Amino acid sequence: MSTVTDLLQPVEQDLEDLLNDLRSLIGAGHPILQAAAEHLFSAGGKRIRPGIVLLVSRALSPSHELTSRHKRLAEITEMIHTASLVHDDVVDEAETRRGVATVHSRFNHRVAVLAGDFLFAQASWHLANLDDLVVVKLLSRVIMDLADGEVKQGLFRFDSGQTFTQYLEKSYCKTASLIANSVEAAGVLSEVGESNLSNLNHFGKQLGLAFQIVDDILDFTGDENQLGKPVANDLLNGYLTAPVLFALEEEPSLATLIEREFSCDGDLDQARHLIAKSNAISKTKELAESLCRDSKDAIEWIPESPWKKSLLEMPQFILGRLY
Ligand code: IPE
Ligand code: IPE
Ligand code: MG
Ligand code: MG
Repeated sequence: MSTVTDLLQPVEQDLEDLLNDLRSLIGAGHPILQAAAEHLFSAGGKRIRPGIVLLVSRALSPSHELTSRHKRLAEITEMIHTASLVHDDVVDEAETRRGVATVHSRFNHRVAVLAGDFLFAQASWHLANLDDLVVVKLLSRVIMDLADGEVKQGLFRFDSGQTFTQYLEKSYCKTASLIANSVEAAGVLSEVGESNLSNLNHFGKQLGLAFQIVDDILDFTGDENQLGKPVANDLLNGYLTAPVLFALEEEPSLATLIEREFSCDGDLDQARHLIAKSNAISKTKELAESLCRDSKDAIEWIPESPWKKSLLEMPQFILGRLY
């Protein structure tokens, strides 16, 4: 099973440069906000999103060179992602992220809200400076989707009537939109034709949905130390993800526990037990697997290269996080 380091090995140096560039890009801000942003960039996430953008960029270039605009796009992608995490952790009251204290627990809520805004604003500024209106539209749409996704998630808390379609729409907004649109934007910068732009978008979308679904399974089955963030937090917050929705089909009594917001003693444990003994986790895995299979077909047309090879292995890596 390949690790994220194996997978991103063809862009390892690019990702190292990216981290240094991100540090100097955010360096110009207010010291506290800089400290907050630096705090998370130093902790180091998996850098999957900029990794994918860089792999696509090199795979699409006939000489496999990277332009400075492609590099900047990858940086913007990671900035937007990190900003969304800082805000998401405030909303979820999460204590850890990337193995370190979250910005609001290390500093305070005010700093976290401002640091997230600061990163979004920096990302928008650098985006505008790419001077490509199509790319600006793709990535500003992502920022809209992220906000929309957090609102949608909030509206459906503890709502056992939430449909699968609503769950997938929320997941598209919170996670898949960034991957889909940043990959498409790399294609725009590489002057790819219309139909392959939509293939790139589709690749990112299916991969992004699979990534979120796997993350939602890991909230039930994962290990806090390994993930670097809290587990068992979604259900507690009332976020009904794929495993819960599948379990509800088998165990209608789960709805009662959810609707009373696990207010009676033992409700949460009982709910977890019902989910664990149902077929929900395996059905959720099948859903992620089918999205992963579909994503690969969308990039068949890219010429063979080590960068494409890594892209083709990305779905397997995402599913492999479960084992
Ligand atoms: C976390 O994304 C948010 C989700 C979409 C589940 P990652 O798991 O990619 O987080 P980092 O960037 O590696 O910390
Ligand atoms: C993450 O979704 C997507 C974001 C835009 C933050 P989650 O809410 O599942 O992310 P984690 O589990 O906190 O990383
Ligand atoms: Mg969260
Ligand atoms: Mg999660």
